[in-house]
Amino acid sequence: MPVQIVRSVAALRTALAAFRDARETVALIPTMGALHAGHLRLVEEGKARAARVVASIFVNPTQFGPNEDLSAYPRREAEDIAKLEGAACDLLWAPDAAAMYPAGFSSSIHVGGVTAGLEGVSRPGHFDGVATVVAKLFNQVRPDVALFGEKDFQQLAMVRRMVADLDFGIDIVGVPTVREGDGLALSSRNVYLDAGERVAAAALPRILAAAATAIAGGAPVAGAIDTARMALAEAGFGPIDYVALCDAATLQPIDRCAGETRLLVAAKLGRTRLIDNIPVTSCQT
Ligand code: PAJ
Repeated sequence: MPVQIVRSVAALRTALAAFRDARETVALIPTMGALHAGHLRLVEEGKARAARVVASIFVNPTQFGPNEDLSAYPRREAEDIAKLEGAACDLLWAPDAAAMYPAGFSSSIHVGGVTAGLEGVSRPGHFDGVATVVAKLFNQVRPDVALFGEKDFQQLAMVRRMVADLDFGIDIVGVPTVREGDGLALSSRNVYLDAGERVAAAALPRILAAAATAIAGGAPVAGAIDTARMALAEAGFGPIDYVALCDAATLQPIDRCAGETRLLVAAKLGRTRLIDNIPVTSCQT
């Protein structure tokens, strides 16, 4: 079945009404396109959890900083449509900027707390842009469930917070990160890496895993983080925005491994900024 493509809010409402009339549940997968196997895993999970799957593709300008890669961000709609068809996605919501941000648009959603550190420091304004567009997508589609990748762990935590705080009544599902054979997390931005950088990039998940194992085994957190920073620099990364152990729900930095924790990293390799994170399990206390 070809995926149905809608580009206006009115057409979206009509398509969704058909699902609702048939009493079908709806899963939403928000994306910025340039789809890869990580995105398609979200579609697959959506299919398992709802009768209909709606994917959105919108390269959201408000979540990009002035010196970020908005104009260079990969746009591959024809390939994306073919991939969504292969994944049996029912509906593609592909608004343009004018449909999403009509003239006079002046609202913004700020989620505090979980957004304060990490990406919130490195990318000021980023999470307000994400929260606002995700809230709009939720109101446009009104899904029963929405799926987000753990790859963007802080984003997932922010969406959970927003949904709880603003009573969206949507079930938020986090999906584990899909990786290449060498461990590199799939990302639409990996296309920016040249061949040499692509080989070097595999050091990131390796170094992250080594630090997580050390911390879980009882190594002091600060020392393990220092070791990871040095290993990253040696592998060609820099600047390193952060390597941090955080509480998995609040994303507050912690210096002792206890409860549900997450180790998160952001660093540049050449011109490409990479982020990754993993759980730190079975902490020895
Ligand atoms: P984008 O980077 O396109 O990612 C869309 C969704 O795919 C996010 O939930 C992201 O966490 C997930 N994802 C990306 N790489 C993944 C991987 N390797 N494994 C599993 N899931 C992965 O995140 C955004 O777009 C935007 O901020 C958005 C939420 C759409 C708002 O504009």
